Amino acid sequence: MKKFAEKIAIAALPTPIYSASRLSSILGGPEILVKRDDMTGVAVSGNKVRKLEYCAAEAISEGAGVLITCGGPQSNHARATAAVAARLGLRSHLVLGGPPEKVPDGNLFLDRLFGAGTTFIPGAALLELAEAMEETAESYRREGVKPYIIPLGASDALGSLGYIDAIGEIKKQIGEMGITIDHIVFASGSGGTLAGIVAGCLVHGLECGVTGISVAFPSSWSDTKLEEVFSGLRERFIPDLPSPSGRYSVNADYIGEGYGKASPELIRFIREAASLEALLLDPTYSGKALFGLAGEIEKGTFKKGERVLFIHTGGTFGLFPYREQFASEF
Ligand SMILES: Cc1ncc(COP(=O)(O)O)c(C=O)c1O
Repeated sequence: MKKFAEKIAIAALPTPIYSASRLSSILGGPEILVKRDDMTGVAVSGNKVRKLEYCAAEAISEGAGVLITCGGPQSNHARATAAVAARLGLRSHLVLGGPPEKVPDGNLFLDRLFGAGTTFIPGAALLELAEAMEETAESYRREGVKPYIIPLGASDALGSLGYIDAIGEIKKQIGEMGITIDHIVFASGSGGTLAGIVAGCLVHGLECGVTGISVAFPSSWSDTKLEEVFSGLRERFIPDLPSPSGRYSVNADYIGEGYGKASPELIRFIREAASLEALLLDPTYSGKALFGLAGEIEKGTFKKGERVLFIHTGGTFGLFPYREQFASEF
């Protein structure tokens, strides 16, 4: 495997791939394989562990004592950062755009268990938290603790290396399985997973379609973000990284009413996937992405005779705050 930077190997890799045969047959289109990146370990941390292996290595090499990051109050990334910090004996501090909960649920509950410090900024959007992270970092410096800031979703060049590796892993696995894949589909939020997957296909020579189902931002935002991460990758790690143009698409048709908002159809779909395949998909990320894949199968974008690899990026604990919406379906 090509090595572009140091990482701390704490994820349980390779994650398994299996054929979701009942789901495939109900949807009536391509064979759907699921890459179980919800099983990366470190307290069920999902896709973010792959990125955080690199961020944590850099933080430790710089002598940092606290990892600072941001997200919504139910951020999987923030929770994964708190878990990784606890696993490595570092402190963590999460800047969360929203009000504190009286009784913390889901990811926030776990943030508390992992011992993370928190700063809540009610009403702040996800893209407005960078300044507050700087202020938090300054307060740790005053205490004599060196901070390391991880940007939203660890979606920078360093974090995206985790998904370049993931593509190398997938290429090896499908080679051993004696199969090829036509498309990779997954949830796209802050864009680092998308950038890593596209770069990974270019670096490892994996020829297949790449579709990120956007859960928050318009596709033009994702395009700009991907270019930004690619520039960082060329500057820091892979000078000859080719252009990503024409190698991926971002589908923003399934955001619905917004980030974290779940329609009754989405809730029903997630329940069906759980009962058919024992897949735990959350309404904010992985559930919305698989729902998007199902919608695109219905439209004929992905067809019978093809093989789609759906990357289950995790988000399991994000299911719990939706209990009431599910209850009306039981
Ligand atoms: C479960 C899950 N899936 C997918 C994503 C999207 O990853 P990215 O932010 O790299 O686009 C996230 C991001 O937080 C996530 O928590």
